[in-house]
Amino acid sequence: MLPAGIRPPLSPHWSAILQQPDVPARARRRVVLLGATGSIGRQACEIVAAHPDRFELVGVVAGHDPGALDAVVRRFGVPRSAVVDPPPGAVLPEGCAVGLEAACEIAALDADVVCVGISGAAALRPTLAALEAGTDVATATKEVLVMAGELVRARAAASGATIIPVDSEHSALWQCLRGEDPASVRRLVLTASGGPFRQRPLDTLATVTVEEALRHPNWSMGPKITVDSATMMNKGLEIIEAHFLFDMPYARIDVVIHPPSVVHSCVEFCDGATLAQLGLPDMRVPIALALSGGRRLEGVCAPVDLAAASPLEFQEVDPRRFPAVGLARRAGEAGGAAPCVLNAANEAAVAAFLGGGCRFDEIVPLVERTLDAAPAPASPSLDELVALDAWAREEVGRACAPATGGRS
Ligand SMILES: NC(=O)c1ccc[n+]([C@@H]2O[C@H](COP(=O)([O-])OP(=O)(O)OC[C@H]3O[C@@H](n4cnc5c(N)ncnc54)[C@H](OP(=O)(O)O)[C@@H]3O)[C@@H](O)[C@H]2O)c1
Repeated sequence: MLPAGIRPPLSPHWSAILQQPDVPARARRRVVLLGATGSIGRQACEIVAAHPDRFELVGVVAGHDPGALDAVVRRFGVPRSAVVDPPPGAVLPEGCAVGLEAACEIAALDADVVCVGISGAAALRPTLAALEAGTDVATATKEVLVMAGELVRARAAASGATIIPVDSEHSALWQCLRGEDPASVRRLVLTASGGPFRQRPLDTLATVTVEEALRHPNWSMGPKITVDSATMMNKGLEIIEAHFLFDMPYARIDVVIHPPSVVHSCVEFCDGATLAQLGLPDMRVPIALALSGGRRLEGVCAPVDLAAASPLEFQEVDPRRFPAVGLARRAGEAGGAAPCVLNAANEAAVAAFLGGGCRFDEIVPLVERTLDAAPAPASPSLDELVALDAWAREEVGRACAPATGGRS
């Protein structure tokens, strides 16, 4: 319960995203799409293709797959493209630039919205480039807010750009909060499916295969976030994401397991009312809402059939099964460099698991050990964050390297 008289500290800048949209109903929006070849990127392309009167792709960026990027460039006639790290000798789309600087240039193009679907901390610099250019950023990439939330907020505040959530839970919170008085918010409640191992015997988690971890019961997503959903580190990262997006103290962000993934998250208000956003597990809804600046588009997804979706079951998170949630909360509350280290160690540990370098049940302990061993500057600069990110990845790499005795 919130003590009487205590109000959430939503700043004027962050409460700006809670206003009703001021985007003209029929405006055609210029969109830059970062991570155009991934799961989020492909679904964003579907939205653009379904609403050519509303959206125009003016720039696209991919990581390593120029062939898939070429298909996007040709399909939409995109004038500017970049691939950050193509394989040697790969054939590039016509006029396609190469490298991180080129990706940042595209992020800073004259656009109405930059949609970020690059997986992981690799999205940091392009996201900052978009915000510095004063362009609103619709971001799915929680890792950027986890790694550098303070910096990202400062860049947005300096240029007047708004950060719009694409992550389904944070989009749900946004939808529940819009038009409400921030002072009336008591608590944010993130829902979590619990992933594929919600009921698996704990003593069998050591034998989880990559294939099993990649089989999410409700959502079809890229590999990194799918593994994060299985450990529930994804929900831990989302607690930190919600803290930075909505300026909410950690003590007022909770998580509840909701296996059907129909309620995407809830907001509890001071009068005892709880608002929830319901829908099928379909990322096109939050992507479309973010791309349009908060306006709802016609027929993005079928509505949820409430009778078929019943019962809407909820459970508490078991900290023994899902220690990642508490670990991420601890890093968020510690602040400073801790969330950056948590994120980098987790990205490295997940990559190690996917590559056969560690077991599934070693991922979270690896992250915890790295976090405990990390230097902890209270207000790290961008350069310090980048250095800590690299340090944490090396630590995890060393712990997983076969030459040093294998898995630890
Ligand atoms: N998928 C979902 O439903 C979902 C839901 C909520 C939040 N998210 C978040 O959205 C982000 C993307 O997830 P995803 O599932 O779409 O991942 P994904 O399918 O693995 O796609 C990742 C995208 O990032 C690009 N990329 C990878 N490394 C890059 C680099 N160094 N520089 C630039 N681009 C790079 C990839 O390009 P190449 O293919 O060319 O390498 C690809 O376009 C993640 O932060 C995730 O947590 C995803």
